[in-house]
Formats: sequence, structure tokens, C-alpha cells
Amino acid sequence: MDYRNKSLEDIEKFWAEEAKGIPWFKHWEKTLVWDEPFAKWFQGGTTNASYACLDVHLATEKKNQVAYYWEDEFGNTRTYSYLQLHAEVNKFASALKKLGVKKGDIVMMYLPMIPELPIAMLATTRLGAAHSIVFSGFSSQALADRIIDTEAKVLVTADFGLRRGKYIDLKTIADAAVKLCPTIKNVVVVKRGPAGQEIKMEPGRDVYYHDVLKTADTYVECEQVEASNPLYVLYTSGTTGKPKGIVHCTGGYMVYAKSTFKWVFNPAPDSIYWCTADIGWVTGHTYIVYAPLAAGVTSFMFEGSPDYPGIDRWWELIAKYKISIFYTSPTALRMFMKFGAAPILKHDLSSLKLLGSVGEPINPEVWTWYFETIGKNRCPIVDTWWQTETGGILISPAPGGELVPLKPGSATMPLPGIDAAVVDDTGKEVENGTRGFLVIRKPWPGMLMTIHKDPERYKQVYWSRFKGIYLAGDYAIKDTDGYFWLLGRADETLKVAGHRLGTAEIESAAVSMPFVAEAAVVGVPDPMKGEEIVLFAILRQGNEPTEENRKKLSAGIRTLIGPIAVPKEIHFVGKLPKTRSGKIMRRILKALATNTGIGDVTTLEDATSVAEIQKTYEEMKAQMGKK
Ligand code: WTA
Repeated sequence: MDYRNKSLEDIEKFWAEEAKGIPWFKHWEKTLVWDEPFAKWFQGGTTNASYACLDVHLATEKKNQVAYYWEDEFGNTRTYSYLQLHAEVNKFASALKKLGVKKGDIVMMYLPMIPELPIAMLATTRLGAAHSIVFSGFSSQALADRIIDTEAKVLVTADFGLRRGKYIDLKTIADAAVKLCPTIKNVVVVKRGPAGQEIKMEPGRDVYYHDVLKTADTYVECEQVEASNPLYVLYTSGTTGKPKGIVHCTGGYMVYAKSTFKWVFNPAPDSIYWCTADIGWVTGHTYIVYAPLAAGVTSFMFEGSPDYPGIDRWWELIAKYKISIFYTSPTALRMFMKFGAAPILKHDLSSLKLLGSVGEPINPEVWTWYFETIGKNRCPIVDTWWQTETGGILISPAPGGELVPLKPGSATMPLPGIDAAVVDDTGKEVENGTRGFLVIRKPWPGMLMTIHKDPERYKQVYWSRFKGIYLAGDYAIKDTDGYFWLLGRADETLKVAGHRLGTAEIESAAVSMPFVAEAAVVGVPDPMKGEEIVLFAILRQGNEPTEENRKKLSAGIRTLIGPIAVPKEIHFVGKLPKTRSGKIMRRILKALATNTGIGDVTTLEDATSVAEIQKTYEEMKAQMGKK
């Protein structure tokens, strides 16, 4: 506690000390320039993320240490030492340079979980350019929307991805996206599909990764970039239909990534670390690539599903690679819980020392199961709360700093340098034990710089509700011991199996179908996925609420966003409950979806008459065939 409180007395002094953890070509002049709400950390300093992750280790004993072990679903393996990874990154950086990539550019990546993804990221940052990665489960339209926003000239993709033993034709999806994106001049394709399976390559535009390496130089000098140089743009869902391009900088982000990794995961020189996230999401960016590499840790990277070919696949891998630090999501844990302990007991998990959880609230039962069944009552669990916007973990137990007693279901306390609080509608701190909005009251080095091309939206979304205070968008309770309990989103954002989706995004996909007039989405609790999507739609005249239309609507959403956004239930209704000002009353929809009754509607702000709501509710219920 003292350590934490002390760090907040003078955050600049505190972070200036932490910044010594990464290499700088030129020392910064000012630790923080706070032009509210725009932060410039380590102004005047120059660094490079690729240098901080790779070159820095080459003069040490880490040079020949493994950076990544990698395995795919078929059991194919690859291993890269820091030296080998450095060599691969340099070659690909040279290839990208020859394709014209330079500082100020954004390189798009649409890749499965193969080593070429971190290689491409580090090659891009080596040149001082930024990357923008699109999760390979997103559709071509979602990929195209993001490419259009970044105006990228180069896309790196693969011929195939792998999912449950089947090859997914990524290149065809990428081609459909690129067709809509005139800025793309080159598509670099990593060949990893089955031998002999050729894909279509567009002459003059598409080049194979292995071909461009043939003419590449073996070394490329790192671009010495200012601390605020964008490292990446990662799109995430918000409360409108348009995803937000979250921009992270180089210097502050790298400092934050490395320090938080050290505090939370407490790596030892012989640790083998496995984060099961996909690099397409922020957890993979920070805690598969930048943080563990900057910390010089050995990681394991897996391309595959947790339950394929067997439900014990992950536990087999933990035993095989002697994983000591394991970082996963509550959704995965809930699935394993369902299958019982037998598949786990088959494997020797004695190498495990620390367990982590991320992405959604972990319920105390799941926490306890994780602690007992996986950790055998001897591994601390770090329940890590953070967001795409925060760059790294903000609230979590910190075994590498000062470990407080754990409470199942609580992410415990803010990390050093993080001034988190729970406030009411007016921004006033609530009494301990009361629910409120989670806010961060002081800037931190990992924070987003802005929303790509939309600084106004950045100001409005995060900083307008409470002046000078970052609004996280989550509900939380701080208990009387000062522990934080994260209670899920306070806005129209969903967390489905840990994936962040906006209700507005799904609604706008639905209404873009010619037969849909209006749509409303709500998240309903799901015992496995945390939340599930339920969609209510009003059909345009002349269309019937048939199974066929339901299927067409699902397929449409799949095409526009991706399989993760497909609703669990679709209800065709005659009207939607709305306030006088036309706002959809999601509370009513939630009640309908969960069949729980609407409760007290008199408190609904700006509501139509109570009788009217009640009537709409009853009508809709009847239409849905619910009693
Ligand atoms: C939720 C993922 C409870 C939260 C790193 C947040 C959590 C959103 C936790 C960000 C946790 C993340 N406990 N809720 N340990 N971690 N969340 O941007 O609602 O995909 O606002 O970043 O996930 O999701 P994102």
C-alpha cells in the first residue's frame, strides 16, 4: 500500500524512474506534458520498440535464450532465440522498407497466430512505422473498414489460417477487403497452408513473404523515434457503429508494458510464460509481444483452439513446455470447468507458479476452481483489469511488487502510479461498498494518445463526463479494504467470450440488410461466454418473420463483422420500446430476453407512460412466444 501511495505523490518522479527500464537513444527533456486530455510522456526522448524488445538483449546472455516457442494445432513447432528473432525481424524490416514503408505509415496485418505476426509487428516498428492488426476472425468488410480508416499502403496476411484442424482461406477474405481499399499497393502473403495448395496472387500487388526475404538485407538500423511516435492503432468497439482506432505511442507504452509485466507476472530468469490471447486483441499486443520481449522472457505461443483435438490440449501444452506463468480468460476457464477435472489431472501441471485472468469479470466460483484445480492451491491468481485504451494492466495483484492477500473475484488494487477511484454521476467519490463509475484521475504512460483521426471523439468519450478524469466505462465497487470489484461495462459495450463488441456496431450491421427496418441489441448473461447477444429487429414491410430471414440476418452480420458478432437469439418484433426522445429502452429488452419481468419502470428517465411501456412489453412478449 505504501509503495502505491508513494508513487501517486509525484507521478512524474515515479514514472521517470520506471522509464529507465527501457533503452533511450536520447534522454527525454520533460517526463510529462499534460495538455489535458492529451498526454505526451517522455517528451524529447527518442527510442524504438523493436530495439527495446530485441537489440537490447543481444549484448547479454539473453541472446541465445528462447524468445518464442511456437506450436500449431497439428503439433508443428518452431523455436526462435532472441538472436534468431532479431535476424528475422531485420530481414522483414528490410523487405518492408523496399516496399516503401517508412516512419509515419501504418502497416495493416491480418494474420493468424504464427510467428510472422510478432515479426511483422517488430519489423514495422523498427522502421518507425505503426501497425494496425485486425483479428483474423473478423470479416472482409470489417477489415476493409479498418484499412480505409488507416489509409494503409501495405497489408500483411497469410494464405491460410488454422481453426480446429481446418484451413481457413484468409487470403480470399483479404482480397475481398482490398478490393474496397484503393490505398493498398502491396499485399505480403505468408505461405503456411497445406503443401501444393496454391492461392490466387494478384501480379504487381501481391508478393510472398518468403520471396521478399530473398532480396532483403540482413540488418536495418532502428529508426530513432520520438516517444510520442505512434506504435500502433488498434480498433475497438465503442458506443457508436464505427469502431475507434485507439492510438498508442512508443515511449510511454513501452515503459508501461515492461513495468506492469514485471509487477504483475513477476518473471524469473527461467520462467516460461504463456498468454493464450490472440495477438489481434490488445492483450496479445502488450502481453504476448511488447512486454515479455522487453522483459527478455521466454514465451510460448499457440495457434489453435483450447479444446482441439482434445479437451486437454492446453494442459498437455503446459506440461510439455513446462509453463510457469499462465495468462488466460474467464471464458476459457468456464469451458474447462464444464468438462470437469479428469482432462486436467491427466497432465503434470507442477511447473505452474502464477496464474492470470483477463478480459471480463472472473466469478468467485471460477476463480476458486482455477486456484484449486489448475494451481493446486499454490499459485497466486492475478486478476488483471485493463482495456485496449489503457495499454496495459491498471488494477491487479502485483506479486512482483507487493502482493496483497487475494480475494476471489476482486482484481484487488491499482498498480503503482495508477490513481483509480469509483465515482457517482457527479464525479464525486462514492462511499466504499457503493457501486459507481470507475475512473482514473491521473494520466499514466500506457494511456491511449487519441482516437485515430478523431481527437474530438477521444475527448468526448473518455474525458467529457468528468473534467480531467478518464472514464473507463466500467462499473466498479471499492470495498472497505480498498479492493476493487469490477462489475462489467456501464455503457452499450458487450463482452462476449471476452471479445469486446458494441451494440451499435451489430445494430448498424443488421439495419444495413435490405429487409431490416430497425434493430436493437442487448447483452444477456451467459454462463459460458459471460454475455451473449440478443437481437430484436423490425422487418421492413413485405418481409415475414421466417426462419429463412433469421438465417439471412445472422449470415449478414457474420459477413459484415465476423462470427463473433452473430446473435444467439434473433426476435422479429412489431415495435421497439422507446422513450419519448426515441431512445431504445434496453432495460425492457433485457427483461424480455431474460424473461425476468421489467421491474419498476417508474424510475426510467424520459420514459413514455408506464402503461404504454407495460403494453409494449406484453405485446412483445406475446410475439416472442413467451409467457
Ligand atoms: C473488461 C481487454 C473485469 C472491462 C484487456 C473492460 C474486465 C473491458 C477485466 C476492456 C477484469 C477486462 N475484470 N472486467 N479483469 N479485464 N475487463 O478493450 O469491462 O478488450 O472495460 O481489453 O474488458 O476490454 P478490451
